[in-house]
Amino acid sequence: MDRTGGLPPSLHAEESDRGVYLARCQVDTPERLLRFVWTQVNARRPNAGDVVDFGCGDARFSRFGTFDTYTGFEIDPARGPRAPLRSPHKVVLGDAFEPGRVLDFSTCIGNPPYVRHHDLEEVWLGRADKRLKELMPYQADGRSNAYVYFMWLAMASVGADGLVALVIPFEWVSRPASAKLRAFIKEQGWDVDVFHIRNAAFERVLTTACVAVIDKRAALGGKWRFFDVDDADVITPMKEVTGSSHKQLAYQKAAGQTRAIRGLSPGGKEVFVLTEAERIHFQLQYPSDVVPAVSSFRHIEQSQVTLTEALFRKHYVHTGQRCWLLNVEGEISPALKAYLDQVPEEARSNYTCKSRKLWWKFVMPKVADILYSSGFKTARPKMFRNVLGAIHVGGIHGIHCELASDSPAVMAELLKIDLSKKVVSLAKGFLKVEVRQMNTVLNDIQKRLAARA
Ligand SMILES: C[S@@+](CC[C@H](N)C(=O)[O-])C[C@H]1O[C@@H](n2cnc3c(N)ncnc32)[C@H](O)[C@@H]1O
Repeated sequence: MDRTGGLPPSLHAEESDRGVYLARCQVDTPERLLRFVWTQVNARRPNAGDVVDFGCGDARFSRFGTFDTYTGFEIDPARGPRAPLRSPHKVVLGDAFEPGRVLDFSTCIGNPPYVRHHDLEEVWLGRADKRLKELMPYQADGRSNAYVYFMWLAMASVGADGLVALVIPFEWVSRPASAKLRAFIKEQGWDVDVFHIRNAAFERVLTTACVAVIDKRAALGGKWRFFDVDDADVITPMKEVTGSSHKQLAYQKAAGQTRAIRGLSPGGKEVFVLTEAERIHFQLQYPSDVVPAVSSFRHIEQSQVTLTEALFRKHYVHTGQRCWLLNVEGEISPALKAYLDQVPEEARSNYTCKSRKLWWKFVMPKVADILYSSGFKTARPKMFRNVLGAIHVGGIHGIHCELASDSPAVMAELLKIDLSKKVVSLAKGFLKVEVRQMNTVLNDIQKRLAARA
């Protein structure tokens, strides 16, 4: 095995962060999927030529398929294969984004790491960004998951008639964070086949997987096709990415003042959103030190349509939910200062806190008129008129109405919609409506309400 790569110095320095990063992304590909990917590759290239695999783990992709050479890159020495591969095949222990390395392969295959953007260290992001800019007209997106960076790298590592076949989350076909990547592929006119794997049987990974095949030869003239793959590997063409006959809900800007706003990301729920017990322990007062906040509706039924103080007390305050957001506007009280002073360094070493002048000083969002959960499992997200005036945090998004008095009518319209067939499923039975998709819904509602008036 070629051991020339070595770990980048930045990763040595941050041993604990590295441990967390690796723990998040080390999921092995089951044999069924390895074989599936190779079937797709060899159907397009009977001999895949010189193959590269970034984040190769034990080099399991080298055990199948027809190709000339295999080169795997793996950052974690503990994950590499036990014995060196037979020459000319090799595994290089090192960072896939190592600068200066010449990449000239025919096929890029693999299962790149899945690590959420919020969990990626600044050093990691800077390094990946720099390398991709060195390789191609890469367009950064500050919200991308690690696998998106690996997709760019994959495309840059194969020649003008190369092939890329990766096991990645199906969400890449719809999420705004991968929009630039999709636009780039479309601009290049490459063919794309996406195989939605109904049951990938990955350990620990909840997102729906797909196998994405990007073919630079573009024999179909830049066509995108979607397929569903069932548990017996039977492949059926999908009409729409939603898996239903409905098109995916469009992404729009708000046409007027009625708009959806994403939940606040204060920089760590454990630090910024307290339980009632924590509030009392630190002697923080409502409303000067803390304000009501909701970050989940998972534990409550949609048996009423208003978020009242009574509902908040019963289902959030008295059940130990994190429901008190620090009120950091204006002068802070000695009690709040004492609380902030005792927050351990590790709890505030994330990107959001580090990028602020004062690590805790976030801008308090305006109270929204309607709150809804971005994730849902039924016809529509749970939603409540925000009579209480709670701040929406994390996966709970807000809707501001042009006039607060419009909110009952907007809410009544929202309660009629069925979004389940119009959005892409992120995980088994778990759907998500993006902010700009909710704007599309709201734009329609506004038109209907205006026509009625
Ligand atoms: C999802 S696992 C896949 C492993 C293996 N290819 C498989 O299919 O089972 C991703 C692998 O990428 C490795 N990895 C993560 N970041 C990397 C980087 N920057 N450079 C090289 N390898 C990396 C992880 O250690 C992990 O082994």
